[in-house]
Amino acid sequence: MEYDLLVREAEVQDASVLIALLDQIGQESSFTSLDENGIAMTASEMQHFIDKQAQSDNQITLLAFLNDELAGVINITADQRPRVRHIGDVFLGIKKAYWGNGLGSILMEEAIEWAKSSGSIRRLQLTVQKRNLAAVHLYKKMGFIIEGLQERGACIEGGEFLDVYQMGRLIDK
Ligand code: ACO
Repeated sequence: MEYDLLVREAEVQDASVLIALLDQIGQESSFTSLDENGIAMTASEMQHFIDKQAQSDNQITLLAFLNDELAGVINITADQRPRVRHIGDVFLGIKKAYWGNGLGSILMEEAIEWAKSSGSIRRLQLTVQKRNLAAVHLYKKMGFIIEGLQERGACIEGGEFLDVYQMGRLIDK
């Protein structure tokens, strides 16, 4: 099947589909901090979040639509305090049905290009479970390096502790 891909910044009217996507990501794997309870935000809380991000020069949410279906999201959040407002924290998630088709890479490329042109972001950082091999591979491919290891950085169902990498990438024009 042919897919039309659209990547664009989130708008307030995307709040409900974005919540549904994040809830689905939480249910489809244990690779993120989202669990079966999902994002646990109301539509109006998500609208407020999207609106704040849209008004900020150092934060963004990019959505990937395949044939008008929301299939993935990359989010960069940042503190507004002057000493750390150049640091963007990254979250990336794709619907399981579309894993392995290059969507995560496309969203990360777009996010890096946005960061380069933002005029404010000079570092991207993230945490990722060490066992999440596809994600670690993708981040290394996109120029992130492993800066540290958090032992017991996550705890999944059944009480199993997991190692988590801290990864970072400097942003220069
Ligand atoms: N070992 C090593 N590399 C692998 C493996 C593996 N077992 N499986 C797949 N890969 C590679 C693929 O070959 C591909 O690399 P390539 O482009 O060099 O061929 C890469 O991993 C995957 O690239 P994409 O297809 O662009 O990525 P995808 O669209 O599948 O998205 C993602 C990857 C975001 C990790 C997706 O699987 C997902 O959403 N998983 C669930 C949520 C999640 O884990 N999110 C990341 C949490 S960490 C964070 O948000 C900072």
